[in-house]
Amino acid sequence: MKPKVVLTGKTWPIPFAKLQEHCDVQHWEGPGPIPRELLKVWLEDAEGLLSVNHGTKVDEDLLDAAPKLRVIAQSGVGYDNIDVAACTKKGIPFGNTPGVLVEATADLTFGILLSAMRRIHEGWGWVRTGQWREVMGTDLYGKTLGIYGMGDIGSAVAKRAQASGMQIIYHNRTRKQDDGHLGARYVSFDGLLEEADCIIVLVPLSEQSRGMFGKEQFDRMKSTAYFVNASRGPVVQTEALYDALKHNNIAYAALDVTDPEPLPGDHPLLGLSNILVTPHIGSATYETRNSMAMLAVDNLLAGLAKKALPACVNP
Ligand code: DGY
Repeated sequence: MKPKVVLTGKTWPIPFAKLQEHCDVQHWEGPGPIPRELLKVWLEDAEGLLSVNHGTKVDEDLLDAAPKLRVIAQSGVGYDNIDVAACTKKGIPFGNTPGVLVEATADLTFGILLSAMRRIHEGWGWVRTGQWREVMGTDLYGKTLGIYGMGDIGSAVAKRAQASGMQIIYHNRTRKQDDGHLGARYVSFDGLLEEADCIIVLVPLSEQSRGMFGKEQFDRMKSTAYFVNASRGPVVQTEALYDALKHNNIAYAALDVTDPEPLPGDHPLLGLSNILVTPHIGSATYETRNSMAMLAVDNLLAGLAKKALPACVNP
């Protein structure tokens, strides 16, 4: 008999076929996210859980409703929705999908910075409404880019920025040991805020990083600074960002993630002229999402077979 696996949403045909070959799949097809109470019922006799996005909260309460659960996999690199310690306590391995989304996410992150600085989206907005207006931007060349959270995606963004002639500085809680090859200078957090012409946030959401960018941090930035968030919305205090943009304490923001998310259509941020918001599409390319789903399925199948997960998060 095939083990039962709960799949929380839509996935891609090839990984889905692979999953079905080995498992009996109970699949939520919407609309919207799977209701928590229903998920608990489905998990009563499930051995695997495959989460397709970071909207499903996995905590002790959910795990208690899943006595047979042996492995959890999520299609995504961030896992702030998963209580990994609770999984470990129950002996459940949890796997995510690092690596495969690095280049796509770096493209989008650098892309929204580029679009903000050169006003690409604004120019298109004018042309599309029949107005051939010249929109003035700012050079990337010669500017200092500050990356907060220099991991794999940060390094890939740094390469793109170097190709545009930018200087790179970065800050991590712990300095990277092998940072020589990055062509990036390590600075303190305050140094990054004060020195950078553009700041890109790529740090994972944790208790330390939650709300890390507030009034004090925006006040420290240059009034000409461009601010990009491509990590998780709650790393930034939305109201403080709104005020900083509204009063031109910083120049512009480009956000691929927001708090709240999705951002309601009537949210005050959307009334500002110095902002670009994309709907959390860092990894959203056909190739990358397919690779992420495949790695998530491989994590799940490895766990069911009592083998090491190709990308295991638990220590
Ligand atoms: C990730 O993989 O963490 C992306 O942000 C999608 O959630």
